[in-house]
Amino acid sequence: MRKKVTKAIFPVAGLGTRFLPATKSVPKEIMTLVDRPLIQYAIDEARAAGIKEFIFVTSRGKGALEDYFDHSPTLEAELERKGKMDLLEILNDTNMESGAVAYVRQHKAMGLGHAVWCARKLVGDEPVAVLLPDDVIAAETPCLQQMVEAYEETGGNMVAAMEVSPEKTSSYGVLDLKEDLGQMVSVKGMVEKPAEGTAPSNLAVIGRYILTPQVLKHLDDMKEGAGGEIQLTDAIASEIKASDNVYGYRFNGQRFDCGSKAGFLQATVAFGLARDDLKDELGQYLQELSFAKKAAE
Ligand code: UTP
Repeated sequence: MRKKVTKAIFPVAGLGTRFLPATKSVPKEIMTLVDRPLIQYAIDEARAAGIKEFIFVTSRGKGALEDYFDHSPTLEAELERKGKMDLLEILNDTNMESGAVAYVRQHKAMGLGHAVWCARKLVGDEPVAVLLPDDVIAAETPCLQQMVEAYEETGGNMVAAMEVSPEKTSSYGVLDLKEDLGQMVSVKGMVEKPAEGTAPSNLAVIGRYILTPQVLKHLDDMKEGAGGEIQLTDAIASEIKASDNVYGYRFNGQRFDCGSKAGFLQATVAFGLARDDLKDELGQYLQELSFAKKAAE
């Protein structure tokens, strides 16, 4: 029987330089999309996919992230005393079970592959999901759940993939397709940030993965890749060569790149408009803005 995916790694040890100066003291993953930190969206997605153990790869200055997962008895008691049960419920939903969360430290931001490798001892001999919290995905069925369901059919390694325009491929890990199976593709290669005009396809990998323990083993090599970083893409590429067991999964949903300012702003608008308590006011404001812009033209 195939082992279930019950563990997930959340690499949150990056420097977040694109959001300086905010990220000087606020971890990027704590920045809020409407009223929930980015990390909460990733946790909710992981829970929906059946994840029970949450492994955070953190670094210096990420204390706020650890605090966020603690229960807050004083605040909870105060909300209860004031009868603010709706807020209490929101708060309770964010509480993590004791023992369900583990932290490992990445001593230096040496790349995503290195961050994932830091969690290897907590993962052991099991498949593991990896979620990058700065990729936020709006989807009817949460993205990782879609992937876990597909994984239960096929096994192997699975990466979330989406079509991007040719001029954008150099910002992503890109798949070299063996066979296009529709929702899934089998993969014969994968390259991180290919130079313009050299990408093997337009199918880019985004921040959701299901990995077998072998991929973490490849990371033992500590080989530097694109940008002088230890790349997860390279370890997956090694596994393609070794086992021919890697699939891309075209997920249903809309992905927002909240690691970039423009993506974060777009996500803020989209998630704001999706909220019953905000959509009217925000929608009206956006309409006024667009009228004003047209009038000025
Ligand atoms: P990014 O490439 O977005 O890097 O990392 P970053 O440091 O977060 O942000 P910028 O580019 O400086 O603005 C993608 C994911 O990988 C994690 C990040 O925390 C983020 O979730 N990561 C990256 C690590 O955990 N460790 C690393 O060494 C690099």
